[in-house]
Amino acid sequence: MNEMSIPDTQHWFTIGRLSDIPRRGARQVLLPRGPIAVFRTQTDEVYAIDDKCPHKGGPLSQGIVHDGAVTCPLHNWVIDLQTGDAMGADQGCVRTYEVRKDADGLVSVSLSGGSGKAE
Ligand code: FES
Repeated sequence: MNEMSIPDTQHWFTIGRLSDIPRRGARQVLLPRGPIAVFRTQTDEVYAIDDKCPHKGGPLSQGIVHDGAVTCPLHNWVIDLQTGDAMGADQGCVRTYEVRKDADGLVSVSLSGGSGKAE
């Protein structure tokens, strides 16, 4: 019996090169499901989350990146980039997306993965 396997690359969407994202900054990527924010930390870790703050929908891609988190530009909620959870006393979360960096510097985001915590 033959089984058809779906290539691993099918659900990966290449957003550009690591060098396209400023250190301690972000790039917004528009997807059919809505915008996502792709962040690059000082140590070149890359995270992708929905570009919509769980508080009142602020653009997280315009926030300040620090210590593996982003501070929303509207009311200063701090969102953990790895988990998508609001930190401190604030309650809420955003969907996170798996990210991979290729050897040639291309950054891809998984469209089928993610934390599934928030829609
Ligand atoms: S909209 Fe982000 S903290 Fe209020």
